[in-house]
Amino acid sequence: MSSLDTEKEDLLVLGIETSCDETAASVVKGCREILSNVIYSQIDLHTVYGGVVPEIASRGHIEKIDQVVKKALSDAGKELKDLDAIAVTYGPGLVGALLVGVAHAKALAWATGVPLVGVNHIEGHICANFIDNPSLEPPFMCLVASGGHSHLVNVLDYGSYEIIARTRDDAAGEAFDKVARAIGLGYPGGPKIDKEARLGDPESIAFPRAKVRENEYDFSFSGLKSAVLNYLNSCGMKGETVNRANVAASFQKAVVDTLVGHSMQAAHDRGVTKFAIAGGVASNSLLRQTFEEQCRERGIEFFRPGPVFCTDNGAMIGVAGSYEYLLGYRSGNDLNAVPGLSIGDRKGVFRI
Ligand code: KG4
Ligand code: ZN
Repeated sequence: MSSLDTEKEDLLVLGIETSCDETAASVVKGCREILSNVIYSQIDLHTVYGGVVPEIASRGHIEKIDQVVKKALSDAGKELKDLDAIAVTYGPGLVGALLVGVAHAKALAWATGVPLVGVNHIEGHICANFIDNPSLEPPFMCLVASGGHSHLVNVLDYGSYEIIARTRDDAAGEAFDKVARAIGLGYPGGPKIDKEARLGDPESIAFPRAKVRENEYDFSFSGLKSAVLNYLNSCGMKGETVNRANVAASFQKAVVDTLVGHSMQAAHDRGVTKFAIAGGVASNSLLRQTFEEQCRERGIEFFRPGPVFCTDNGAMIGVAGSYEYLLGYRSGNDLNAVPGLSIGDRKGVFRI
């Protein structure tokens, strides 16, 4: 039984997300029911540059935030005055991008008197698992793998987290994006490598699986990225044509082996019975399939969000914000963006 058994069935929370390149808003009822989910992706604005340009992201959010929030409310058939809370991502992420959502949420909260709740983006990713999995309750272990983060987290209770492992260098999604660029697949790399890898042989090239000496569960992907770049250079020097599908498949297999291997080791060592995945990389087809198989073999119950709730969205912020609200967390009009915010660090949030 969780310490939070007072879920308010008709609790209504607006979630706002602008930490990277998605302007998103959603209305969430009773902590887990998604009444609306509006996502404006800026991919088209950034593709030409091969990655997210922070200044362009901020400007894109400014142009869209008002209509995205209005659409989320109208799709849900609600008005601002119906809300119990306004939840907004205030970190981690790009400072200029975060500020747009934070300023907008603060203005709405100030104008309406609706309470404001600052939400951690990574906690939002974890909470995306509550949406399609009504039976999921803490405690469980969760791997968060996205463009900016790779964390293995013990979810002890609602709002209570213990970090077990993190990446020492690149995040998993960052590695996908960099390798995709190197083999000419373009941005965003993750989905493109996922697709290309289906045409290749994952055993064709022996890429390394890094181990970190200080913490056996920690991740490191920069060595793998360099190994792919070295492989491409050596093919170029020998005048050999690169088989893109084989590189994509072998690279993807190395990332998945590492993420799943470390996660299953930690789950075993800590006697975990429920395991979840989250973040953009959690929509990777090989990762989902491998976790499913490995968890089944070990008798661990496996959870994952639907693909639309893996990449950045407002619904996950609304869900996380609902639980934070029920736990008594609030933010004031002095809430600021915290680009390097870590999990469980509630800088700028207070408890009533
Ligand atoms: O969670 P997210 O939308 O944004 C961050 O918080 O970073 O994650 C985006 C990341 C990108 O690096 C993207 O390439 C990766 O998730 N991604 C994938 C897949 N779909 C998105 N990586 C591997 N396979 C996928 N199918
Ligand atoms: Zn994210």
